[in-house]
Order: sequence, then structure tokens, then C-alpha cells
Amino acid sequence: MTPIYAQSDLSAFVKKYTEIFILVDEHTFTYCYPLLEDVFNSHYVIKVHSGEEYKNIETFSIIVNELLEKKATRQALFINLGGGVITDLGGFVSSSYKRGIDFINIPTTLLAMVDAAIGGKTALDVQLYKNCIGSYYWPQAIFMCPDFLDTLPIRHIKSGLAEMLKHGLIASYDHWNQLKSISELTEIKKHISHSAQIKSNIVEQDPNEKSIRKMLNFGHTIGHAIESVSLLSAKPLLHGEAIAIGMYLETKISHIYSQLSLDMLNEIEKVLHLHFGELIYTTFPLNDLWKYMLNDKKNDSNSVNFTLLTEIGNAEINYQLSYQEIEKALA
Ligand SMILES: NC(=O)c1ccc[n+]([C@@H]2O[C@H](COP(=O)([O-])OP(=O)(O)OC[C@H]3O[C@@H](n4cnc5c(N)ncnc54)[C@H](O)[C@@H]3O)[C@@H](O)[C@H]2O)c1
Repeated sequence: MTPIYAQSDLSAFVKKYTEIFILVDEHTFTYCYPLLEDVFNSHYVIKVHSGEEYKNIETFSIIVNELLEKKATRQALFINLGGGVITDLGGFVSSSYKRGIDFINIPTTLLAMVDAAIGGKTALDVQLYKNCIGSYYWPQAIFMCPDFLDTLPIRHIKSGLAEMLKHGLIASYDHWNQLKSISELTEIKKHISHSAQIKSNIVEQDPNEKSIRKMLNFGHTIGHAIESVSLLSAKPLLHGEAIAIGMYLETKISHIYSQLSLDMLNEIEKVLHLHFGELIYTTFPLNDLWKYMLNDKKNDSNSVNFTLLTEIGNAEINYQLSYQEIEKALA
């Protein structure tokens, strides 16, 4: 499994490579790259636009063209310095350029530190379909530096917190309990490595998502569809915000179909409301979400595969639910 190191180990690691390419967006170029620049000898920086709307085939082409222009060989090291958009995008470039080159992730958002940088999933969106193209391709290593979060806007901190709460809900009551009422960044930072470890442990047991890795999809079946639909709006939701709404709705579905108790449903609603406010009650017609839900990798033509909670700290996979069953649970 991919080792997770502290940032202080980066210098020794990169010495093995003579060709280094660092992928950044405009924010990570401004806030994060200057803190690392001196660690590398000679290297090229590839800068792309930030935002989900650039996690696409056009940006992929721009990066590959830059690699070709700089004559990158199969011995190159590709470094993703950024949030989940950069780690997904750069991971996919690394998996496909000359049939695969080494890469590492240096996550700079909370969401990437606890989730996107871990687990070897790389992806691009096509039209509004999230992660439509992608691969499983593991970084050589992940380097963590929670201090990068000091410049991250609070809205993005909350977005990452959604994935941390999910880790608690599916796998650790203790983690959930610790996160329930904290909001200060200094407090959140203390729980990053536990959250990252939960994801890493699950992925290690089932790297190619044949079984228990599907637990990580809790909140994402509806959440991804909400994220797709919201990309059309004037102020699109962040990934974690869409997942927070998805978790709220899938908690309600869990109450009906996987015997999650009413007390636990109420507790989860209360905590999500505390962190995300009225956002979790945003409504989307199921009809609008349905085609994106069906497009998800794990579904047949009439029903959608859900991971549902049985209690706080435990999830079960492979609930196949029809449109009517979901509609009934959310009514
Ligand atoms: N591969 C996976 O397993 C996986 C898991 C979860 C999410 N994802 C993907 O991750 C993406 C979302 O990632 P994200 O929330 O990190 O978004 P992001 O990469 O868009 O980053 C959020 C914003 O913060 C800025 N930023 C990054 N680091 C900063 C810093 N230290 N200081 C100031 N600004 C900074 C970025 O430029 C961007 O504007 C989605 O595309 C989602 O599908 C992938």
C-alpha cells in the first residue's frame, strides 16, 4: 500500500529522480509551491486552472502537451501539488503518459489529505458526468503537510470535514464522536491522520473496489449526482458540500432499508446541520438526479447500488434500490 510520509521526508525521496514535473493550479502555485520550491533541484512547473470544471480532457491534453514539449521520459517523477482536482487529474496523466510514470501526491486541501490523495483512484469528468474516465494507479508515496491548510478558505475546510465525518459514520464511532462538535482548524488538524488511516485501511483490504471499498461510497451515490446537477448552477456546490447533502439523504434511506435507528438518524441530522446548516436541506428533484445516479459504475439499468448505515460506525454495501424505493424513503 502507498506509504504516507511527513513533508520532511520529501527531500530524500525526490533525490532518486532527475526529471521532475510539478502540477499546480493558480492557488497552490501561490500558496504552496513557494514552501517547497527549494526541496527540488531542477524541475518544471505545469500550471492549470483551478476548479472542478477543469478536471477534464482539455486540461489533460494541455498537461500531456507540456510533458511532450519538455521531452519527459518514462523515468520522470510527476508531483501533484494540490487538492482533489489536481490529484485526480495528475494521477490520470501519470497513469497514461507513456503507459505510466511514477507520481506522488502532496495534498494541499483537507479533502485531499483525508481522501482524494489516498487510494489510487484517478479521474476526469466528461460533460457533467463525474469521474467518467479514470484508472486505478497508485502513487509511489503521499506526503502530508497540514500547515498548507492555513491558507485554505473555510468553505473548503468544511468540504473536507464532510469526508472525515463520513469515515466516522462508516467505520469508527470514536472518530465521529471526536469530530461531532469541533470546527476550529487547529482541532480538525489533530484528526487528519486518523481519518486518512481509516480510508487507507479500507483501500488496503480491497484496492479494486470489489467489496468493502464500496463502503466509502456512502453519501456519494446521491452526492455525486447532486454535484453534477449543481455544476450547471451559478454557484456550484463543492464536492464535500454535495456529499454532506448526499449523506443526509442516504441516512434517511438507511433508516428505511438498513434499520438505522431513529435516534441515530436524528443524531446524524443534528451534526450535519451543525456543520453545514440549512445546506443539507437543499432539495433536488429525484428525476434530475436519476440519470447521473444510473451512470454510476456499479448500477444496472433500473436500480442503483447504495452503501447504507446500520449504525454510526458501521456500513453495509450492495443495497440495490429502484427509483420508487428511493422516492418512498425520501418522501
Ligand atoms: N480520487 C479520489 O479517491 C477522490 C476522493 C474524493 C474526492 N475526489 C475528487 O476531489 C475533488 C475535490 O477536491 P478538493 O475539494 O480538494 O477541490 P480542489 O482541488 O478544487 O481545491 C479546492 C480549492 O482550493 C484551492 N487550494 C488548494 N490548496 C490550497 C491551499 N493550501 N491554500 C489555498 N487554496 C488552496 C484550489 O486551488 C481550489 O480552488 C473532486 O473532483 C472529487 O471528485 C477524489
